[in-house]
Amino acid sequence: MKIALVGYGNMGQELEKLLDEVSGHKIVSISFKSKTDRLDKEGIKRADVAVDFTSGEIVLSNIKEILALGTKIVVGTTGWYDNFAAVKGLVEKSKGGLIYAKNFSVGANIFFKIVSYSSKLFDKYGGYDVYGLEMHHSGKKDSPSGTARKITDLVIANFGKKKVANFEKLDRQIKEEELHFASVRGGNNFGFHEVVFDSAADEVKLSHQAHSRRGFAQGALLAAEFIKNKKGIYSFEQVFDKEKI
Ligand SMILES: NC(=O)c1ccc[n+]([C@@H]2O[C@H](COP(=O)([O-])OP(=O)(O)OC[C@H]3O[C@@H](n4cnc5c(N)ncnc54)[C@H](OP(=O)(O)O)[C@@H]3O)[C@@H](O)[C@H]2O)c1
Repeated sequence: MKIALVGYGNMGQELEKLLDEVSGHKIVSISFKSKTDRLDKEGIKRADVAVDFTSGEIVLSNIKEILALGTKIVVGTTGWYDNFAAVKGLVEKSKGGLIYAKNFSVGANIFFKIVSYSSKLFDKYGGYDVYGLEMHHSGKKDSPSGTARKITDLVIANFGKKKVANFEKLDRQIKEEELHFASVRGGNNFGFHEVVFDSAADEVKLSHQAHSRRGFAQGALLAAEFIKNKKGIYSFEQVFDKEKI
């Protein structure tokens, strides 16, 4: 597969390392390698799939331009989901193909299923409260993480008492319907997410710790293989549900 890297930061370089080690793929273009770099339209046109790991600032314009070039796209960049309907419209209008994930790691996707199932169980048996925590390296630019938002969506969908996520510092008592989820930034952590179910009797802690960026790169490559010959907009869970479970 011919791949165009869009973004050459932590994730772009991790994907490059992975593609060096596995056979059958070739990087034909790298965009945003330096500060003055632009989107490499000619290179992207030659690619089967472009993989975007940039930032919320430019991801929407990248998606628009890449779809217009007729190249399939994997969107790893987070922070654009408020514009999901507009992006879906663009994909349909251009008859293109796009796949996205807030977290491309296979372990994290299994963790999502465990969190959903556990939320249902703890809600059903009653007496438990639930809250969460995420920690990331000091270089991370957004907060909360896209994965934390995903986890709160899953808990709220399955734990009846919780109706809304709260990612803020609180100067008052938490309301029963609020799901509190805290973010910590510092050091080198590749990504830690924890959900705690707590009652007067006991507590159960579920957590996922990424040891490196490799899992995200592997998932992005799996997603690129999936979208290469498809049209439409897909979430990584759709691939994952079908191929891994
Ligand atoms: N879905 C997942 O599984 C997953 C996993 C990890 C990360 N992410 C997300 O992926 C994105 C990238 O993460 P990362 O750790 O690779 O970030 P990063 O190290 O900051 O790299 C971002 C890349 O995009 C470029 N870029 C960003 N904004 C730009 C702008 N306005 N103009 C030109 N170039 C720009 C950067 O260029 P410069 O270096 O020149 O600024 C760099 O090449 C983030 O949104 C992160 O949350 C998602």
